[in-house]
Amino acid sequence: MTSHLGGHVEIVVGDITALAVDVVVNAANAALCGGGGVDGAIHRAAGPELLAECRTLGGARPGEVRLTAGYDLPAKHIAHAVGPVWRGGDQGEEAQLAGCYSTSIELARSVGAHSIAFPAISTGAYHYPMNKATEVALCTVAARLSELSTPMRVVFCCFSDKDAAVYRKLARRLLTE
Ligand code: APR
Repeated sequence: MTSHLGGHVEIVVGDITALAVDVVVNAANAALCGGGGVDGAIHRAAGPELLAECRTLGGARPGEVRLTAGYDLPAKHIAHAVGPVWRGGDQGEEAQLAGCYSTSIELARSVGAHSIAFPAISTGAYHYPMNKATEVALCTVAARLSELSTPMRVVFCCFSDKDAAVYRKLARRLLTE
């Protein structure tokens, strides 16, 4: 684990479904009804009631986020963020990805959360290049945290040591203590 911004931002390697935070962010798709990757892992760990709630939401567009309960997860809430599919970078992908991070933090704050964990949204099945996605994640979160009146703990949960190395390298450059 490494930490930045006075200990408010942590980079860890592991399974996001096991984290005891107030809000876990899901890398969902527009239908919001589950899928593979981290989405599949969250639905399996949270249990079938999650899918039942997701079916009432009516989907969401890339860049948007919808909040549900956490059900069998240690987390109280799940923020289902629809990341962009990478189409070369000139189709609004960066703004949509930034929207996922910003809106997740806003929604977390709206339910009184003090901690939130993000996976590397869009970097798996949606093929957003890891370096570029990490830069968007770190810069967007740092900007939002600086606007909050009370602190929020943010955990970037990487699924591999290789991904965590990218986060750590860019965090050293982009996040000032
Ligand atoms: N914990 C943390 N991170 C995970 C986990 C997990 N349990 N499982 C996978 N990851 C990581 C992947 O290694 C990747 O770095 O989450 C990141 C995002 O990958 P995907 O889950 O493929 O998400 P994304 O690229 O946003 O694609 C979304 O995949 O199956 C779906 O329903 C989902 O259609 C949507 C698409």
